[in-house]
Amino acid sequence: MKEALVSTFKSLNPTNLSDVVLETKLATADDIADAARRAKAAQKAWAKMPAPARGRVIANAGRLFENNKESLSKLVTREMGKVYREALGDVQEVIDTCDFFLGEGRRLYGQTVPSEMPNKNLFTFRMPVGTALIITAGNFPAAVPSWYIIPALLTGNSVVWKPSEYTPAVAEAMTAIFHAAGVPKDVLITVVAEGKATFEGMVKGLDEGTINKVGFTGSTEVGRLIGAKVGEYIQSACLELGGKNPMVIMPDADLELALDGALFAGFGTAGQRCTSLGTLWIHDSIYDKFLKMYADKVASSKVGDPMEDVLFGPMISEKYLETHEQNLKLIKSHHTVLGSTGMGRITKENPREGFVGDPEAGVFAHPTIVAGITKDDELYDTETFGPLVTVGRFSTLDEAIALGNDHGFGLSAAIYTSDPKAVWSFREGISAGMISINNSTSGAEAHLPFGGNGKSGNGSRQSGIWVLDQFTRWQSLNWDWSGKLQKAQMDNEEVPHNPDFKI
Ligand code: UN1
Repeated sequence: MKEALVSTFKSLNPTNLSDVVLETKLATADDIADAARRAKAAQKAWAKMPAPARGRVIANAGRLFENNKESLSKLVTREMGKVYREALGDVQEVIDTCDFFLGEGRRLYGQTVPSEMPNKNLFTFRMPVGTALIITAGNFPAAVPSWYIIPALLTGNSVVWKPSEYTPAVAEAMTAIFHAAGVPKDVLITVVAEGKATFEGMVKGLDEGTINKVGFTGSTEVGRLIGAKVGEYIQSACLELGGKNPMVIMPDADLELALDGALFAGFGTAGQRCTSLGTLWIHDSIYDKFLKMYADKVASSKVGDPMEDVLFGPMISEKYLETHEQNLKLIKSHHTVLGSTGMGRITKENPREGFVGDPEAGVFAHPTIVAGITKDDELYDTETFGPLVTVGRFSTLDEAIALGNDHGFGLSAAIYTSDPKAVWSFREGISAGMISINNSTSGAEAHLPFGGNGKSGNGSRQSGIWVLDQFTRWQSLNWDWSGKLQKAQMDNEEVPHNPDFKI
């Protein structure tokens, strides 16, 4: 008999590529379909458990995440490279999500609704969808999966989780925590796989009726494929896709405040957040001044070892660095490049002043500001997902709003101003799902709706009460206890009235 070919994936520490974090077997499409079958078989019993009891399991998970916060955060930094303070935030967002949903177990409200008939009662109930396939990215290996997994479990669904193949160790640790918290093994099954196998496994599960909901965080390109395929099965995917998030700096902005926001939004997590700053739009009257402030600040910030006090660490993996280097090719001669002593990968020959640690041990990139961006540039509507911020100018707020919308993404947008009229005009005009006033484009809180429009998402929202509509379906119930057939819209009693009455 031929031995089955088992392919494996080595997750490497991007700060030090000689450190293998985990070598893991890659699941095939059949493995994924099998996981979906098992999860589906386990779902009914899980849904039967009273919601407050499921809430207790989420409470247990929250406590375990809290008790393991430092070690899990260290693993996040080791496996995907974000600075430790941000990794602590990534894990804190899981704890916050547990905090929110443990109480939802005791709410999960339906409604009692008056009937148009006497002696008849109407009700609504939230029903779990079934088994959800959750596919997540490597940039928020803890927080983003938790936005799906926690509400999905709380509402009585089972989950097959396909984390990023670049962060399998974090996924393994998180899954172990959920199981230790009391989630039955088959109610949450984690499979590490590559994109193609995941897609094929998803199609098998959809065909067999063992996948009833798909959640996906990742690129617009892949989201489009997933959304279309899932649509064929009369399902709607929960899609959290790319962004080209604008930040508008008005002439009356507090420039020091805006500088802090633009620095964090542009280069936090090495620019690899969905909510990272895409283009900084600066008003003509302060363009030169603010651009210089930004370039100087970025140039003097520390880059390097993410366990040290730096602005950002390495890229998630070599693949992400390659994509970043491809994006650098979109820079044209009419652009001005600022922010560092070089561009692309940081090496001994292409050094970054003040680098903390050994750049060649990992996959580090120079921060890059590309000034002089216009609507005709390819960089205008390309999500760059790396330490690259484009900068352009505008003269009126309407122009800035159009520039912030016309690329078709609509995830996050920010404005810095002290004028309330500008705030409200921006809110009304900008198409993003999430808006920040005098704050960074990134850093959303865990209990507000998270999601985008246009190329950034199909209108689905995660987090808070809004995500409940992703993982439940409304069921309505009418109970007629009048003892006779009362036909709605037909047997209703007319109230006598005088339509010609005038005083
Ligand atoms: C993401 O990049 O996919 O708002 C999520 C933020 C974080 C989550 C980002 N709380 O930046």
